[in-house]
Amino acid sequence: MRRLLFDFGTETVRMTADGSRQRKTQEPAIVAHQDGGNIVAVGAAAERMLGRTPDGLQAERPFAAGGVRSQKLAQALLRSMIGRISRSRWQRPEIVVALASGATALDRRAFLVLAREAGAARVSFAQLAACRALGLALPLFEPRGSLLVDVGASRTQIDLLSLGRTVVSATLPEAGDTLDDAIVRRLREHYNMMVGPATAKSLKHELLGGGADDALLYGRDLVSGLPRALRLQRSEIEAPALQLASHIASAVQDLLRVASPELVSDVAEAGIHLTGGGSRLQVLRHHLPDALGLPIHCDESPSESIVLGLDRLTDRRVREQLLRRGA
Ligand SMILES: Nc1ncnc2c1ncn2[C@@H]1O[C@H](COP(=O)(O)OP(=O)(O)OP(=O)(O)O)[C@@H](O)[C@H]1O
Ligand SMILES: [Mg+2]
Repeated sequence: MRRLLFDFGTETVRMTADGSRQRKTQEPAIVAHQDGGNIVAVGAAAERMLGRTPDGLQAERPFAAGGVRSQKLAQALLRSMIGRISRSRWQRPEIVVALASGATALDRRAFLVLAREAGAARVSFAQLAACRALGLALPLFEPRGSLLVDVGASRTQIDLLSLGRTVVSATLPEAGDTLDDAIVRRLREHYNMMVGPATAKSLKHELLGGGADDALLYGRDLVSGLPRALRLQRSEIEAPALQLASHIASAVQDLLRVASPELVSDVAEAGIHLTGGGSRLQVLRHHLPDALGLPIHCDESPSESIVLGLDRLTDRRVREQLLRRGA
């Protein structure tokens, strides 16, 4: 049976196909639809429409915070991704969902329904953090603590893993999106300027990810209603990123307080692994080692490490240890 392994991220869905030949693909997690419900575009095509849709058309994200926001939109995206790699309608795949440890029984149920309706003959679950640990080549199956901090788009997931699974975990409802919203607010309140989420995100990447001192942006002046250009300094938008860093540091400390002393000493020795797209934020990389007094290892290709981890699930022995069948 063909096996399709998924990380349903809020911003990006990543997939590895295991079968006669392996294939990997990823799509922006966005679907454009008409008010009445007709799907107009999915993935990259829908992303280009964000903020540029006429009345009656909307581009929305089907997933959020490790769960399904809209079954209908999620279904459209999933079917399109499956359709692109598998020509045969008769060969029903096994779908493996990498599920965050913060996911609820309802989230799990929603993914089960989603995968079944997309034609899965069998649905299985793996822990997302365990997949990530495999992708980062951490000693997942050993009796050794590994602390992973995954800063995504809609949430930050913290997992302390040992012997193949999460021992303690915490979820913060703050991550990359929080900064995009803060940038939109800052520009409105301090510069009377309105920008869309895509502009805010690219400013974040340039100033807080790339570390540029300033950036030029275009938006609408709220007083005149006309287009306007503005040069924004990095220091103007650093505060929310620092706040995110300090919230993450507190959450990590809270988690270490309840972990066993052996696991804590493993973490003290091995340090913390920072991953997810948000790990590219310079502020996190600079602030967390001081705030926690622990070494931080930054994932240099967070998009690849999760796919590498999903790839490892194509190995039968790894699957036997990590997969759980959907009910
Ligand atoms: N160079 C960069 N600088 C700053 N932030 C970045 C950079 N590249 C990506 N990001 C941010 O990382 C976030 C996306 O990360 P990721 O792909 O791990 O999320 P996801 O898995 O889709 O979402 P989630 O895990 O929350 O469900 C976005 O907020 C994005 O803006
Ligand atoms: Mg993610």
